[in-house]
Amino acid sequence: MKFFIDTANLDQIKEAQDLGVLDGVTTNPSLMAKEGITGRNNILKHYVDICNIVDGDVSAEVIATDFEGMVKEGEELAELHPQIVVKVPMIKEGVKAIKYFTDHGIRTNCTLVFSAGQALLAAKAGATYVSPFIGRLDDISTDGLELIADIRLIYDNYGFETQILAASVRHTMHVINCAKIGADVMTGPLSSIEGLLKHPLTDIGLKQFLEDYKKGN
Ligand code: G3P
Repeated sequence: MKFFIDTANLDQIKEAQDLGVLDGVTTNPSLMAKEGITGRNNILKHYVDICNIVDGDVSAEVIATDFEGMVKEGEELAELHPQIVVKVPMIKEGVKAIKYFTDHGIRTNCTLVFSAGQALLAAKAGATYVSPFIGRLDDISTDGLELIADIRLIYDNYGFETQILAASVRHTMHVINCAKIGADVMTGPLSSIEGLLKHPLTDIGLKQFLEDYKKGN
């Protein structure tokens, strides 16, 4: 399973990259705003800065909601850097735009997906990634992981190559359960990646090993 970090914070991206397990980055307009990155030029520059830190794919989201606007913005984003994947919302115009980008060799991430039907449409349009938001489904008492399992089943039934990018991951158990189900990618905060390290028996065991080593040396 690929690990993406879901942030626009350059320090956190660097930290995840330094760990050696990072495969990419996802961002969205809310995450950009959280880092105080505003204005088209600053946002575009920030995407390039992110691409220069990581080796993998970097999702950059279109703001337009009409077909022509999405195509114009998406082409501009794709031109920025070869690692850019154009993030397009799951709306009617978005499906058309994904199909257009697919036909023109531009990779896409279909975002704001909350149902298996939406994921099926994204795959039919040729999306590179589909982003079901599991945390936001959990927030409204709907099992986000069940959606990942449903999409996995549907994609495997027909051999769709669209990668399932479990998004809105909030914690380590989301990561582990997504891996068990067979999500291709997960994107979450740094804490959801670093949290995988933690086990008290590791800490206790290491402390003991080091104490015993000191006794004999
Ligand atoms: O990847 C989508 C993500 O940014 C949404 O996460 O935690 O705001 O639901 P969250």
